[in-house]
Amino acid sequence: MGKLKYLAVAASLVVDFTSAQDVDYAQFVNPFIGSEGAIRGYAYGGGDVFVGGAVPFGMVKLGLDTYEEPVNQSALNGGWTPQGFVTGVSLMHVSGTGGGPKYGFPAQMPLTSIDGDVNLLDNRTYWQKREGDDLASVGYFRTKFESGITVELSASRHAGMHHYTYPAASGKHVLVDFSHYLPHPTRSWDSQFYTGGEIELQPNSGTYTGYTSIAGGWCIGAPVTVYVCGEFDTPPDTGKAFKGKNTFPVSRHCRSFNNATTPSPTFTGNSARSGPLNDRVGAVFSWNNVTEVKSRVGISFMSVDKACAYKDSELPSWSINDTMHAARDEWNRDVFSKIRVDTSEKANKTRLALLYSSLYFMHLIPSERIGENPLWESDEPYFDDIYTMWDLFRNQVSLWHLIQPSYYESMLRALIDMFRHEGWLPDGRSGNYNGLVQGGSNADNVLADAYVKGLRGNINWTDGYAAVKKDAEVLPYFDENPVDPQGSLKEGRSALDDWIPLGYVSADRNSRAVSKSVEYSLNDFAVSQIAACEAPEDRDLYLQRSAGWQLSWDPSATARNFSGFVMPRFADGTFHKTYNITNCGDCNWSDESYEGTAFEYSFVIPHDVARVIDLMGGPGHFESRLDYVFQPNTSGVDLGVNGLGITTINNVANEPDFQTPYLYNYLNKQWKSVERSRQLANDFYFNTSNGIPGNSDAGALNCWLVWQMLGLYPIVTTPVYLLESPWFSDINITVNRDKTLRIRADGLDDDGGKQGYYVQSVKINGQEWNKNWFEHEDAGGIMTEGGEILFTLGAEQQVWESGDVPPSPGHIVLDVGNGM
Ligand SMILES: *[C@@H]1O[C@H](CO)[C@@H](O)[C@H](O)[C@H]1NC(C)=O
Ligand SMILES: *[C@@H]1O[C@H](CO)[C@@H](O)[C@H](O)[C@H]1NC(C)=O
Ligand SMILES: *[C@@H]1O[C@H](CO)[C@@H](O)[C@H](O)[C@H]1NC(C)=O
Ligand SMILES: *[C@@H]1O[C@H](CO)[C@@H](O)[C@H](O)[C@H]1NC(C)=O
Ligand SMILES: *[C@@H]1O[C@H](CO)[C@@H](O)[C@H](O)[C@H]1NC(C)=O
Ligand SMILES: *[C@@H]1O[C@H](CO)[C@@H](O)[C@H](O)[C@H]1NC(C)=O
Ligand SMILES: *[C@@H]1O[C@H](CO)[C@@H](O)[C@H](O)[C@H]1NC(C)=O
Ligand SMILES: *[C@@H]1O[C@H](CO)[C@@H](O)[C@H](O)[C@H]1NC(C)=O
Ligand SMILES: *[C@@H]1O[C@H](CO)[C@@H](O)[C@H](O)[C@H]1NC(C)=O
Ligand SMILES: *[C@@H]1O[C@H](CO)[C@@H](O)[C@H](O)[C@H]1NC(C)=O
Ligand SMILES: *[C@@H]1O[C@H](CO)[C@@H](O)[C@H](O)[C@H]1NC(C)=O
Ligand SMILES: *[C@@H]1O[C@H](CO)[C@@H](O)[C@H](O)[C@H]1NC(C)=O
Repeated sequence: MGKLKYLAVAASLVVDFTSAQDVDYAQFVNPFIGSEGAIRGYAYGGGDVFVGGAVPFGMVKLGLDTYEEPVNQSALNGGWTPQGFVTGVSLMHVSGTGGGPKYGFPAQMPLTSIDGDVNLLDNRTYWQKREGDDLASVGYFRTKFESGITVELSASRHAGMHHYTYPAASGKHVLVDFSHYLPHPTRSWDSQFYTGGEIELQPNSGTYTGYTSIAGGWCIGAPVTVYVCGEFDTPPDTGKAFKGKNTFPVSRHCRSFNNATTPSPTFTGNSARSGPLNDRVGAVFSWNNVTEVKSRVGISFMSVDKACAYKDSELPSWSINDTMHAARDEWNRDVFSKIRVDTSEKANKTRLALLYSSLYFMHLIPSERIGENPLWESDEPYFDDIYTMWDLFRNQVSLWHLIQPSYYESMLRALIDMFRHEGWLPDGRSGNYNGLVQGGSNADNVLADAYVKGLRGNINWTDGYAAVKKDAEVLPYFDENPVDPQGSLKEGRSALDDWIPLGYVSADRNSRAVSKSVEYSLNDFAVSQIAACEAPEDRDLYLQRSAGWQLSWDPSATARNFSGFVMPRFADGTFHKTYNITNCGDCNWSDESYEGTAFEYSFVIPHDVARVIDLMGGPGHFESRLDYVFQPNTSGVDLGVNGLGITTINNVANEPDFQTPYLYNYLNKQWKSVERSRQLANDFYFNTSNGIPGNSDAGALNCWLVWQMLGLYPIVTTPVYLLESPWFSDINITVNRDKTLRIRADGLDDDGGKQGYYVQSVKINGQEWNKNWFEHEDAGGIMTEGGEILFTLGAEQQVWESGDVPPSPGHIVLDVGNGM
């Protein structure tokens, strides 16, 4: 399509990092990876990523909002689409999410005309196609509208910098539309909707202030109110506030005038407020004698004053170049330089792009909102856009643990503070509102992962344990989400009414029985891991419950010549015998298994792989089943956007299967883990706009690739890391704030398809290492104090490991009978 281009170096923005320590890793980032899906030119099935200006975990992510048709080939979640019409430029976005879009507000839109056919209340009358390629680099975005306006964007933590360049002969206007948000073009139940706002123009100045409130979206959240403080570098010649009837088509919530002509705005002088009917409000500014208009806009969840203060303090100059440089410096300092590889001429630039872009995408959300929590007063930090734990717990939190210790500790404290003040840990959260729980209460896994790796800091683990114990014990109230008539999707574990008395989640009383049984098992293992020190008397109870998945194991269930699977089981103890093991149907909220088949979920027991191996018939059977799930054309399910182009049962594009390719380590056949996982990475990850195999899921897919490139894989809720095979011969990672973990790969020889990447031997801190795994504190604290992991690689597929297989710390043997 040629609609996008990332700039390594753009003419006016030459980055000059001369000193050797200050490598500009940002130059390797391709911010478009995941912006497009399998159908070129459309977002559908792609990463749903945000494209625009942002700092790491920034509250502001400034970028275009678009409307792309046909809507069945689009996805508006990140705002940007390859060729959608631009409807506005807004400050808040999420990245990589599915479901109903969130945010896309507050927005501005530069226009060359506001007369004639243009109706400020109808975006279709002014929306813009783009010309040429959009440009994006870390902290910077540029596009050109068909109208001739060039838009450049950059951002600080709580403010956005816009720079509009107009054609000399055209009109120069900026529309501020407080009723703008990212809509859901194909359904209303989880679409956002506008619930009111207020705008005020300061006469004879370039400043406007106010707020907008938008509700709904993915988690069906309560209204989010954002205060806005915008300023233009040149005071406009005219500025007028307006209001108009709220006729958005999401008629479930608003008065609808489907058949009426779209209303026109009423101009109201220097201010406009929504009033009782949630009228739309906005303003339009016009200039006569300038060709460039710059605008800085601060936002806050607390007050207009705070929004103005952010604008002034974070964007001290009107220069987009300065703003971009500040953002880029922060990314280099706080993110990219945490993982340092050779960037010299001889380095493989594709790999640099994959590594640093992946790091970029896994630091866009959650949004750090310290001092920006409107819901309660607390000295604890605050984060939002945890979207979702279901995605993040698999391995992303474990990387943050290593390379972002400050942010990560803050996130955990924020989670526990949410429990303190709202009663529950979130499994997902956006717009200051919990939801949606896809399976278990996976914040439990996150807390346990940190806990077993010794993270204490200022985390109150007494409350942390109380929080996970509540998840394990208290049925959340029913939130009446329209997509699940059986239990809460907001927080907690909606099927505890089965889980506690039966030990498994039944398929007749609850939705998603298979995947919930599997997830609750790991959740309870996680609880037992924290209990081990915080409440030793509870440990055994939760450890025992963590074997619940075995009660859902039907040894006589057979598919593709393999026997024994986690299956839907009814409350009376019988199994759903005719359940299709390779096809979960829509694999949706109301189905028996969520986003994965019984075939896949049968492997997803990281705390007790040993028992899985037994139940599958021993190591030989386990291995052939594992081999089978990677064979092409075996998938029996339409994976939809969660796996376009994938034909194997194993779906590397979706979270449940992230760890499965690495399970050969549990057979001491590590070379096969290396082979499978590398092949998946090579087949599905590219430095192209459609270069990830599905929604990036807040960076979860990207982070899977980072671990792959480092040659490690963490087993979440335990201190174990599997050893795999690095993609670089020398990697320095800053862990635990200021220690260096060096990973070297002697003999790596995989240029141009060569296969010199199989492990021949490993040394950790000089010690010969005969196991294909190690623990966080092994070898004198390799992950806390740093040190060196030395891989010797070669082309030979070797069983080099002779030590114990990775542990199964939740090992329990329940009698599974022979299937009823
Ligand atoms: C979208 O709809 C169009 C027209 O109905 C159809 O041709 C196209 O195949 C659909 N695309 C997808 C991805 O389903
Ligand atoms: C644009 O207008 C359409 C049609 O009224 C509406 O569905 C949509 O929500 C509006 N806003 C955006 C940002 O697309
Ligand atoms: C009113 O809406 C209905 C249903 O969308 C449509 O069939 C009809 O043609 C519309 N009438 C007018 C006058 O636009
Ligand atoms: C625009 O420029 C013209 C010519 O320099 C000048 O006469 C006019 O006053 C200016 N208008 C404004 C609003 O500054
Ligand atoms: C861009 O900003 C950087 C850092 O603020 C500065 O060193 C450089 O001179 C600026 N370049 C231009 C063209 O303004
Ligand atoms: C890693 O650190 C070591 C020790 O400081 C240094 O010699 C080596 O060049 C570094 N490697 C990379 C890729 O930065
Ligand atoms: C943890 O928080 C609770 C209140 O939520 C408090 O009573 C307790 O003292 C705190 N513990 C520590 C170690 O600060
Ligand atoms: C999942 O279910 C929801 C609610 O019924 C529906 O809106 C959505 O389209 C479904 N998604 C898929 C992929 O089937
Ligand atoms: C199952 O085993 C039979 C007999 O060994 C063989 O013919 C058949 O191809 C196998 N089916 C699959 C799906 O592997
Ligand atoms: C998988 O199926 C596709 C489409 O039917 C076919 O082209 C391809 O050769 C098959 N691959 C294998 C390994 O059987
Ligand atoms: C299960 O679904 C697959 C794929 O849709 C289908 O080929 C198979 O016949 C189904 N199996 C059963 C037992 O219904
Ligand atoms: C560079 O890395 C990419 C991605 O791993 C790989 O496909 C390509 O073959 C490598 N190029 C060379 C020259 O090794």
